[in-house]
Amino acid sequence: MGFATDAIHVGQEPEPATGAIVAPIFQTSTYVQPELGKNKGYDYARTSHPNRRALERTVAKLEGGSGAFVFTSGMAGIDCVFRLLRPGDHAIISEAVYGGVIRLTTQFLVQWGLEFSFVDTSSPAQVERAIKPNTKMIYVETPTNPTMCVSDIAAISKISAARGATLVVDNTFLSPFLQSPIALGAQIVVHSMTKYLNGHSDAVGGAVILTNPSDAEKIYFLQRSTGAGLAPMDCFLISRGIKTLAVRMKQHDANGRTIARFLEDHPRVQRVLYPGLPSHPQHEVAVRQQRGFGAMLSFDVVTLENARTVLNHVKLCSLAESLGGVETLISHPATMTHASVPPETRQRVGITDGLIRISVGIEDVEDLINDLDQALRRI
Ligand SMILES: Cc1ncc(COP(=O)(O)O)c(C=O)c1O
Repeated sequence: MGFATDAIHVGQEPEPATGAIVAPIFQTSTYVQPELGKNKGYDYARTSHPNRRALERTVAKLEGGSGAFVFTSGMAGIDCVFRLLRPGDHAIISEAVYGGVIRLTTQFLVQWGLEFSFVDTSSPAQVERAIKPNTKMIYVETPTNPTMCVSDIAAISKISAARGATLVVDNTFLSPFLQSPIALGAQIVVHSMTKYLNGHSDAVGGAVILTNPSDAEKIYFLQRSTGAGLAPMDCFLISRGIKTLAVRMKQHDANGRTIARFLEDHPRVQRVLYPGLPSHPQHEVAVRQQRGFGAMLSFDVVTLENARTVLNHVKLCSLAESLGGVETLISHPATMTHASVPPETRQRVGITDGLIRISVGIEDVEDLINDLDQALRRI
């Protein structure tokens, strides 16, 4: 079946007891067992429940994995993925990765004897050079947040396969509609489902999609041991959101391209970071490995003062963290999402004080252009 059909039907069969086209929210903590040692597939909601299992089947199918687990947040899932490592292991991570991953690894996981190197993964040669005898994982976010650097997943998968390391790709920014990391050689895909998969800014959730049964067994063990599995109501909301993923992503992609071109031509904008523009340094890689360019982009207005002027004068775009919803969100990475990243790292990876990030929504694009234009003209 096609992507849109799978997004609507896989894991979403009518509920057998009543025929309800939408499965109910199983808001229960425990399941009555007909006799000792027997249950009807569920025993306790921390371990699993029907809404979680349904959503896990959907995301596994859309990413082309053999299984999936859904978590209370993207970070809860990412934490379990790093726990596949053992003391003494080394992981290579994209240097412009989401700030929460830097915080988790450098401020917490290092205490358990894990070693991390932050590398510009848009250069496979730099990834190759960072490999050590104890490298067991390569963790790539592509495109990266908020600099929109693109990493060549197929090229990096060859490097990781040669060392027997696990390649993990964060596919949050493009969603499985626009990019398929497993088909390009990744073993694990992670998502902040809070973003495009849900798409309506009304739930927080994460997903880990796997290809290797022994990784799946360990992740399931961690999910039920730590109690980080997603609750029924949030699974219900995200399952509902996923049903429109294909149509939403088509419109996000169209609006993203239009806004990127508008900003690139605007006299108050110094540079635009969007993989769909021929001026983007990894445009060719994006064309090769993505089925579109999505709706995340950043642009530079040179100074913090200019950025403040734009952010304080937009009316339709909402000043907020997060991304991937139907409504356009605008933010200032240096003081918001990436404030915990050390200033020298921010400078090195290009998160300047004048950089503004937009998650372009699916409103009428002319309205978005008018709003951005009137705010930029205040500079
Ligand atoms: C690319 C990316 N990955 C992971 C996360 C973490 O997800 P969550 O906020 O759902 O824990 C985020 C959050 O913004 C993100 O942007």
